[in-house]
Amino acid sequence: MVTIERMWTESFRPKKLDEVVGQNEIVKRLKQLVRRTDFPHMLFSGPPGVGKTTCAEAIINEIYPITDRIANVKKLNASDDRGIGVVREDIKNFARIIPSGSSSFKLIILDEADQMTSEAQHALRRTMEQYNEIARFILICNYSSKIISPIQSRCAIFRFKGLKKEDIKSRLKFISGKKKLNIDEAALESLYESSEGDLRQAINALQASSSLSSNITTELVYQVQGYVKPKEVREALLECVKATPNFSMARKRIQTLMESYGLSGQDLVKHLNRELGQLTTEDIPNSIKFQALSMLSEIDYRIATGCNPQVQFDAFLANLIAKSQE
Ligand SMILES: Nc1ncnc2c1ncn2[C@@H]1O[C@H](COP(=O)(O)OP(=O)(O)OP(=O)(O)O)[C@@H](O)[C@H]1O
Ligand SMILES: [Mg+2]
Repeated sequence: MVTIERMWTESFRPKKLDEVVGQNEIVKRLKQLVRRTDFPHMLFSGPPGVGKTTCAEAIINEIYPITDRIANVKKLNASDDRGIGVVREDIKNFARIIPSGSSSFKLIILDEADQMTSEAQHALRRTMEQYNEIARFILICNYSSKIISPIQSRCAIFRFKGLKKEDIKSRLKFISGKKKLNIDEAALESLYESSEGDLRQAINALQASSSLSSNITTELVYQVQGYVKPKEVREALLECVKATPNFSMARKRIQTLMESYGLSGQDLVKHLNRELGQLTTEDIPNSIKFQALSMLSEIDYRIATGCNPQVQFDAFLANLIAKSQE
């Protein structure tokens, strides 16, 4: 029988606030609040994969004994309907019944609350007021600006940030240890780089890599993610601006990048743009760099309107060589 392994993001989701990495100020405030009886409504906002849902789940675990959870906690997420009907019926019906067991309030978690219609948000605001004595809300969203201001002003707002390198690395190290993987420092760096502060993405990439080998290296991480190595893009550019530039070599490098990573023309423009931006004045004079960036924006537009990427990149490389030879 084939067994499907659980997602590590779920099996390693922290159960307690103490286990959450980073977000230090937020975790500190939340730890104080869960001990108090005057628990406020809360709004968590911030980018994906940084611990918003995790903190809400940890709060449930810290406040309610397991036996009280079903009666006192309601969770709604994106798969649930977001219209006014849900607020008028499901949420209201749940909020108005007094808490059971030793708990003094019920908790309603609205994950992805920025997907709620404005009509539903206005109805929610009234429900929050009406059952303020016995019900508390935690609203979770990516963009707090999508939550109507009367709700924002009733909530303590917690703005989550992308996680720092050290936090992502320490969690990945912890998981690697539990899963008995060998992971080197460079691979941890690569996982962080490609995650852009999103721990969910980093853990998923680690799990995907581990399905190929228990020795996790940068090569493996790049291979699994189809992540374009910055060095390879840079080399194609440097081929054009060195003392004796080589057009056919540069062209070959560009073709290889597109073929081996299955990049679209516009994806490649993005990579070239990023690497070009990072070249130093020793690699390329600023005046040429700026002209090249401007050419790329032109190419981006042309490809978007249907021009042939290969022709565009050939022209770009030829132009870059010509400028650097002037
Ligand atoms: N700060 C963190 N500490 C420990 N683990 C984390 C943290 N942030 C994210 N994770 C891991 O990533 C997974 C996803 O995190 P979470 O569900 O909290 O993201 P989110 O901020 O709610 O993102 P989204 O906006 O996409 O819903 C968790 O199950 C956990 O494994
Ligand atoms: Mg979430």
